[in-house]
Amino acid sequence: MTEKNFYITTPIYYPSGKLHIGSAYTTIACDVQARYKRLLGYDVYYLTGLDEHGQKIEAKAAEAGLTPQAYVDGMAEGVEKLWDLLDISHDVFYRTTNPEHEKAVQRIFEKLLAQDDIYLGEYSGWYSVSDEEFFTESQLTEVFRDETGKVTGGVAPSGHEVEWVSEESYFFRMGKYADRLLAFYKENPDFITPNSRMNEMINNFIEPGLEDLAVSRTSFTWGIPVPQNPKHVVYVWLDALFNYMTALGLENNLENRLDKFWPADIHMVGKDILRFHSIYWPIFLMALDLPLPKRLVAHGWYVMQDGKMSKSKGNVVYPEMLVERYGLDPLRYYLMRSLPVGSDGTFTPEDYVGRINYELANDLGNLLNRTVAMMNKYFAGKVPTAIASSTSFDADLQAVADKAIADYHTYMELVDYPRALEAVWSLIARTNKYIDETAPWVLAKDEAQESELAAVMVHLAESLRVVAHMIAPFMMNTANQITQQLGLGDVVSTENLAFGAFPEGVTVVEKGTPIFPRLDMEEEIAYIKEQMSAGKPVVEKEWNPDEVSLKNSKADVKFEDFDAVEIRVAEVIEVSKVEGSDKLLCFRLDAGDDEHRQILSGIAKFYPNEQELVGKKLQIVANLKPRKMMKKYVSQGMILSAEHDGNLTVLTVDPSVPNGAIIG
Ligand code: ME8
Ligand code: MG
Repeated sequence: MTEKNFYITTPIYYPSGKLHIGSAYTTIACDVQARYKRLLGYDVYYLTGLDEHGQKIEAKAAEAGLTPQAYVDGMAEGVEKLWDLLDISHDVFYRTTNPEHEKAVQRIFEKLLAQDDIYLGEYSGWYSVSDEEFFTESQLTEVFRDETGKVTGGVAPSGHEVEWVSEESYFFRMGKYADRLLAFYKENPDFITPNSRMNEMINNFIEPGLEDLAVSRTSFTWGIPVPQNPKHVVYVWLDALFNYMTALGLENNLENRLDKFWPADIHMVGKDILRFHSIYWPIFLMALDLPLPKRLVAHGWYVMQDGKMSKSKGNVVYPEMLVERYGLDPLRYYLMRSLPVGSDGTFTPEDYVGRINYELANDLGNLLNRTVAMMNKYFAGKVPTAIASSTSFDADLQAVADKAIADYHTYMELVDYPRALEAVWSLIARTNKYIDETAPWVLAKDEAQESELAAVMVHLAESLRVVAHMIAPFMMNTANQITQQLGLGDVVSTENLAFGAFPEGVTVVEKGTPIFPRLDMEEEIAYIKEQMSAGKPVVEKEWNPDEVSLKNSKADVKFEDFDAVEIRVAEVIEVSKVEGSDKLLCFRLDAGDDEHRQILSGIAKFYPNEQELVGKKLQIVANLKPRKMMKKYVSQGMILSAEHDGNLTVLTVDPSVPNGAIIG
């Protein structure tokens, strides 16, 4: 018996901002494959997680006034919430700040150093902090020069700016392994899906000569220290890639997971990070004599009509909004259906609303409604016993279904979801046509045609049963709603899925409920557009001091009124959660008065590790009338915080400013 184990991974994302539909895409795509394999009886291990070290995270944490650990802890919570919302069935949410992982990376670094795969040298070159990636000048898409023609900066292919870095660095001897890597590619031509990307890697990076890779940094500290030389931290990619093995227990082989699931069956990645997975990752593993992953699946990007998603363009789409308004399954369906394999796809509100209306509500939703209604009308809800095909329509439907099932499996294995779904929708379309051709309402008028009417009804129910099973990995809820309305239990397996196996003695529900909303196209397109531009920053325009407007965005306040408000610097001496409230934190502050003061603030949810705030200098309104809160606590003021994306962040002050200093 061949073992049916299956290990699939998403990239571990940088928790450097709110995740948009791009990362949601990869995570759902892996989820679909994980569910598909589970329904086929595989023992699946599905990993997703976060890449928590590096310069970018350190900078983001500083911006937020938090320690990097507090910052990533907070972000991790948000990401896990998102995966819950998207019904992601991962088995592990792995974070690179996990001590087991850190230990493993240190051990690996030491070993590579000891065997001279890594050596100490000097790095100078262009670094993109956003990508955490080094570039040569020729790789930059744009370079900036000063008057003398000297290059002062530039732009990475991702669109992010690079900075000049010059520091002592450890290097990994990549070149040493180039031939072995090429030989591996040759023996494993299907290593990268789509295949064409393998040549891209060979032509762009390997043939021109693999340069040694800088694998440590000294200009910041948020990373795993190099044990021999702790002023260096391990380069974030060397750290991150090993998560795929440390999560299985590279250090401690928990429950023999490593033996069972390594090498990975699929690493799913966006094209932006294929280089790291197809070149550096296999080479690191070769250097350690570890087995290489079986397959990399690289997908393109979701872009917007005006190019890459970016906040400044006001074209970012967040999954929460789409789920809240239209439900989860349409989002999963849309994302999986509209990104063609290997190339980029454009997200448009028109397309989004259109697919929900046409493909989900009309094609699929209506088919179910009509079938359940006819079953009730003509057979009191009882699905007739299967009857051998009698008409050419039956035979044709059967043939289309057989082909749809075969194509579906082929494309699911190829991780070509648009084509897998097209196969399913070909059966849905054929079944709708079948209703028109067989015209059950005509058959029902003639008693002599009862057995033909019965045959039609079974075929319809059977089509829907098969469709429900095929869409289950994409839309589990919808699949189960369909099988439940048909009087079957939930979808539990797609092993042996074949057309013509509708069980006997089944009764459909008395009244079907629509499984998808029908949307007002114009209204919803406008809604999505409005949401997309909500995060857009103000337009930069030429500043002219004489043309500044006298108008205010809020009601005017007299200067004396504002002046009456006393805002002061206050240091957090102590902070605790307030019993009986999940909103409030109770602060003891030194605001320069003779005594400390107490302020209650409704920010508990944004500071799950509230102790991080101790020692911080905040801004408080010091002369608000004291008031009682929660019946017993007196609050002597208000802590100022800034609101952004539904979050509150307290306003901190440079530690050199003394407690009690007046702000204004
Ligand atoms: O690169 N369309 O993390 P990251 C489709 N930490 N997919 C998109 C996308 C878009 N517009 N935008 C992002 C990193 N993605 C590293 C990975 S792995 C050891 C370390 C997806 O947060 C896509 O999968 O920048 C891409 O590869 C990934 O997010 C990059 O995530
Ligand atoms: Mg990136």
